[in-house]
Amino acid sequence: MLFRSRICFQLTNGTRCLSNDAIRQGLIGMVGRTPLVRINKLSDETGCEILAKAEFCNGGGSVKDRAALYLIKDAQEKRLLRPGGTVVEGTAGNTGIGLAHMCLALGYKCVIYMPENQSQEKIDMLTTLGAIVRPVPVVAWDNPENYNHQASRFAESLDNAVWTNQFDNTANRKAHMETTGPEIWEETRGKVNAVVFGTGTGGTLAGVGTFLKEKNPKVQVFLADPQGSVLYNYIKHGKLERTEGSSITEGIGQGRVTKNLEGAPIDDALAIKDTDAVEMTFRLLHEEGFFVGASTGLNVAAAAQVAKIMGPGHTIVTCLCDTGQRYYAKLFSKSVLEEMGLLDCIPIPYRTSLH
Ligand SMILES: Cc1ncc(COP(=O)(O)O)c(C=O)c1O
Repeated sequence: MLFRSRICFQLTNGTRCLSNDAIRQGLIGMVGRTPLVRINKLSDETGCEILAKAEFCNGGGSVKDRAALYLIKDAQEKRLLRPGGTVVEGTAGNTGIGLAHMCLALGYKCVIYMPENQSQEKIDMLTTLGAIVRPVPVVAWDNPENYNHQASRFAESLDNAVWTNQFDNTANRKAHMETTGPEIWEETRGKVNAVVFGTGTGGTLAGVGTFLKEKNPKVQVFLADPQGSVLYNYIKHGKLERTEGSSITEGIGQGRVTKNLEGAPIDDALAIKDTDAVEMTFRLLHEEGFFVGASTGLNVAAAAQVAKIMGPGHTIVTCLCDTGQRYYAKLFSKSVLEEMGLLDCIPIPYRTSLH
């Protein structure tokens, strides 16, 4: 039996509820119920079952589709968004892509604010998906001109518009409490011992962790943090201090405790180096056949570390966030990796994937 039985959305021509039938109801029916896959070689190597939700199978191609759909559903339920309305978000990554897909499927306009240092590729992608993209100067969160605050003000200035606010709107966490968490519980038949996720908004980790701890308080919840983020030190020492360096990973790492992360039942944190995340990204490609981005490499490298900490015989779950295609220009470029000091961590036979 699936936990997520009836989730309803307003479409331009009425309300549609998702069901559990084999036939998915359009694009929004393709959010969630992703395959749970065993990472074979790594599982054999560690003696643990290393499992991952294949989140690139969501309709918009990433783990953020779940949050995007719930953020829109939340706005519908609060009557902030009526047919033909506008969804506004500040995002440079997967949330924007997810929202743009959902807006097309549900009949809304989509406006994305992003820092102007983002690649033309990202702007082009969102424009192709029907979004209006507004690149704005790169300034810190505490500056009123930060892209998130501009998104908020713009939504306020319009009638029938919402700033979805992925970082602090807990509808994001709820998506994972109501879908990802229950799916993992059901698909492992309750035999999950630990989960580990990189954290951007915190929605995935907090939502899955909260649900699974309610089912079984013994499930261990690990936060995997990239270089240059504050969360490792926050969990370990209670201090919002950045770890050294910056990271090639995108969509994860954080400078503050968001509302989505607040109160999450986290047992421990792991600081994952880019060298380990990138090596694992290329191992996943060449040894397991998965073409994924570096945040997935980080997740799976962290799962391997959890396997070492817990010892053989445990079931550890993470997710494959999105596909490597989204990062092709950077993550698969020999010169970029060389410049960042990340070429040497890739096993020589696997470097055939570089351009
Ligand atoms: C590629 C990728 N991985 C992981 C995450 C982290 O997910 P969350 O925001 O739920 O913490 C994101 C979030 O944007 C992402 O884009």
